Amino acid sequence: MGAVALGFPIFSFVGFRKISEKKIIFPPDAQHAAANYKEGVYLMSSKDGFNTLSAKCPHLGCTVNYDAVSKKFKCPCHGSTFETSGKWTSGPARRNLQELPVKKNPNGDIETVIKI
Ligand code: FES
Repeated sequence: MGAVALGFPIFSFVGFRKISEKKIIFPPDAQHAAANYKEGVYLMSSKDGFNTLSAKCPHLGCTVNYDAVSKKFKCPCHGSTFETSGKWTSGPARRNLQELPVKKNPNGDIETVIKI
């Protein structure tokens, strides 16, 4: 009985942890800049089209900032940097920013989904 009482909090945390998804929509008027930020997601536009990236640094989870001058993402916490494609270039993160799915709706909205 004691083992059950002791194990329940651990099991409930691990077994029932709910991962949900959040839909982020960029309307047409929010698609003109090279980098558009909304709720933890960057929409990057280039002559080749659009891509969306999670703004969460893969090192310890800080929100990266886009620097329009250097055209790089920079993490304010420990200084990792990333290209506009999300590719890691320096710092302790050592992994790329997470690329998210992109879908263009018939009304011109660009839609992506992020796990929270
Ligand atoms: S959290 Fe971004 S480099 Fe550490």
